[in-house]
Amino acid sequence: MKRTLESIVPTNTVLEGGGFKVRRPAAMGRLMSPFLLLDEMGPVVYAPGEAVGAPSHPHRGFETVTYLLAGGMQHADSAGNSGDLNPGDVQWMTAGRGVIHSELPQDHMMEHGGKMHGFQIWVNLPAKDKMMPPRYQDIPSKDIPEATSEDGTVWAKVIAGEALGTSAVIDTVIPITYIHMKMQPGATYAHACEADHNVMVYTFGGSVAIEGRSLHDGGLGLLSPGDSVELTAEEDGAEFLILGGPELDEPIARYGPFVMNTRQEIYQAVEDYNNGTLA
Ligand code: FE2
Repeated sequence: MKRTLESIVPTNTVLEGGGFKVRRPAAMGRLMSPFLLLDEMGPVVYAPGEAVGAPSHPHRGFETVTYLLAGGMQHADSAGNSGDLNPGDVQWMTAGRGVIHSELPQDHMMEHGGKMHGFQIWVNLPAKDKMMPPRYQDIPSKDIPEATSEDGTVWAKVIAGEALGTSAVIDTVIPITYIHMKMQPGATYAHACEADHNVMVYTFGGSVAIEGRSLHDGGLGLLSPGDSVELTAEEDGAEFLILGGPELDEPIARYGPFVMNTRQEIYQAVEDYNNGTLA
């Protein structure tokens, strides 16, 4: 059965971290499970000295996934990992029982300014995996599979899951689909989906039609159940993310950077952080 565009969640522009401009869907309801957050960072052009990021902060109970399109970030964390994120790179960070990390613009961005654009999504972990050891997958752009349709009108970067017969290299705790797609005007692409997954499309350029309903720039479209979705780029072409994953159907207790199942587990996370035993 083909999926339809069931509802469209508009995005708000908000300031995050030290004043970082993000576009974020106005409601992140249970329909988005297993995703907890979808932030489009920028696009923004910083003047010299103006770039901002998120200094040292903790996470527990979920994964943060950063995908950069323009600019440069530097990440460092409590496990001693550090690295640069450049355009096209992905950092898939599984916080599990706890990490403390910083996510900052690279020095040259701070000094000289420049364009910054990218995504950060938060993927929830099932209760049984929330306290797993932290895991990092820093994948440079060249190692992330890309695919193009035979006629050249559809392009995909396969961060997680599968598209155009190409499978991702990133290992996810629960099965996740995360595809960046670009389609030329009038191009059509039929994407196969797990029938029991929640699937959504976030458009950030042009607009895409799904079963006759249009999803414009900045719209998050939640799809009806089904095992495929047919996407057609409208007159300006379309650039969007396809996100999918299983419904976790577990209680969510959330406090800032901690996402657990119960209040008690949140108190424990705060206590562990204050005692210096979180990470
Ligand atoms: Fe973070």
